Amino acid sequence: MSTPTPPTPPTSPNANIMEAIVSLSKRRGFIYQASEIYGGIRGFWDYGPLGVLLKNNIRDWWWKCMVECPPIGPDGHPVDIVGLDSAIIQHPKTWEASGHVAGFNDPMVDDIGVSRYRADHLYGLCPGLPNGTRGEVREAGGTDPGLPMPIATVLASSAGEAAEFFTGDKKTQKLFGIKSLERVAGGFQGQVKGRDFSGTVICLYQPEFKGLFNKFPSPSTGEVGKLTEPRAFNLMLDTYPGPIRDEANKAYLRPETAQGIFLNYKNVLDTTRVKVPFGVAQIGKSFRNEVTPRNYIFRSREFEQMEMEFFCPPDDALMWYEFWRNERMKWWLSLGIRPENLKFRDHDSDELAHYSKACVDVEYLYPFTAPDFGELEGIAHRGSYDLTQHSTHSGTKLDYFDQELQLKLKESGASPEDVKSKSRYIPNVIEPASGLTRAVLVLLCEAYRYDESRPSKEYLAFKPQFAPVKAGIFPLVQKDGMPEVAEKLYLDLRKHFTVEYDPKQSIGKRYARMDEVGTPFSFTIDGETAKDQTVTVRHRDSQLQERIGIANVKAFLSAKLGE
Ligand code: GAP
Repeated sequence: MSTPTPPTPPTSPNANIMEAIVSLSKRRGFIYQASEIYGGIRGFWDYGPLGVLLKNNIRDWWWKCMVECPPIGPDGHPVDIVGLDSAIIQHPKTWEASGHVAGFNDPMVDDIGVSRYRADHLYGLCPGLPNGTRGEVREAGGTDPGLPMPIATVLASSAGEAAEFFTGDKKTQKLFGIKSLERVAGGFQGQVKGRDFSGTVICLYQPEFKGLFNKFPSPSTGEVGKLTEPRAFNLMLDTYPGPIRDEANKAYLRPETAQGIFLNYKNVLDTTRVKVPFGVAQIGKSFRNEVTPRNYIFRSREFEQMEMEFFCPPDDALMWYEFWRNERMKWWLSLGIRPENLKFRDHDSDELAHYSKACVDVEYLYPFTAPDFGELEGIAHRGSYDLTQHSTHSGTKLDYFDQELQLKLKESGASPEDVKSKSRYIPNVIEPASGLTRAVLVLLCEAYRYDESRPSKEYLAFKPQFAPVKAGIFPLVQKDGMPEVAEKLYLDLRKHFTVEYDPKQSIGKRYARMDEVGTPFSFTIDGETAKDQTVTVRHRDSQLQERIGIANVKAFLSAKLGE
């Protein structure tokens, strides 16, 4: 019997799916607020017994697919990728060369005496529908009295999330006097401060709003005149290694794992057998002083990244960019994410860094961005920018002599000048950069199911390979030799899989607990076991039960986890 496909998720009675996910993952030991007993610390999270298993499963699969079993390249052979684990703190010049000291900034708005917000997270409910109809409520603003000045503001990561606040969040509605605001074609209609209103939700960090921030109401107090114009705020967290705490001894906690790879590009070339094209992969912690950490673990101040820098000849870079774009989408699908919840978003040319030739995000339909999608991974064509910068700033030569290319060029009859200039180059880089902790969030969102008819009501339909616990092993009752047989099975299986032995409580309660933490299979030793050496297998998603031989349990689990 094959594992039944999970049912389409019914809607949770909890209007806010995110609240349900956050509460379940706290209750069952996936994710805790860091320093909770001291009231928590914003932007930091601890991964509990099940959270760390889930995170490690994703981490190990990425490592397997990148380093141990990298994909087959266009030439029919596996591409070359090696692993690395570089230090979190590198020489401070690293971040000058990379551009992070000068340019790793978020635009910040001060709400005087209240707080500080990211300007690009400030959304306004502005009068006027896109078809030109202006709403009733309008305030003249700044140099252009025709600009649709917001009558309400919120902090959100997308227009979709902002709209949720304006239409459904009681606190926001009370603050701005919003009543019965509903979506209509192209915008929103309802009542604001007792008057008819029609309008749209707009991100206020736009050139046309420059100079007008003091005309916007504060998202915290509703007061107008308290917001400053956006200013750049560097996101790197600093520290002072050694005994002296002064500017000369300032270093940074890495804001990305990528730079550690560039710093070791030459080491890897000199000490291993790789040749261009090749990749270096790294998984590890990164730190960003996010001003508005939000949406659970989506944007944290300490998080984990999985990044791979693929070094290739400049002339092949676009081909490799296309290759990695496709491979990365295939990888996300291999986690069991439904295809309709993933999409590509190509960056517009004005979004690209000056050195970047192309960049695409893999986006996911998070409950808090819906109906919009939010970033999960970026795949960037970084040209030769990083190696050139580090070469210039460190004075170390980082160019590459491509002997094979030289031979090919000679054979193809290229001119001696072409052979010379083309066979020595600074490699281009294609960078698939994703968030491991963000992937944990995606799998929790993807797996969450609500079903009123089930004993647990909520369950997590993880693809078995990524489930923190693969199987529960239970004696039906604590007598008649059942615990001994069950424990023996558990001791055999735990050598190969993460499994749990639980002899207590009613069998229904034990199944319900397994469902809630997303364990795909439960094996129960009952009265029949002693007679015919079979056990009951219960499938989490369908709740169907079948009997298999106790001797076949290991093979059964191996087959299911490989599916
Ligand atoms: N080296 C390129 C780089 O770091 P990025 O888009 O800034 O690119 C890559 O980060 C990925 O890291 C993002 O797509 C996201 O999944 C994850 N990430 C970035 N900032 C994060 C944060 N504050 N909290 C959690 N994950 C984050």
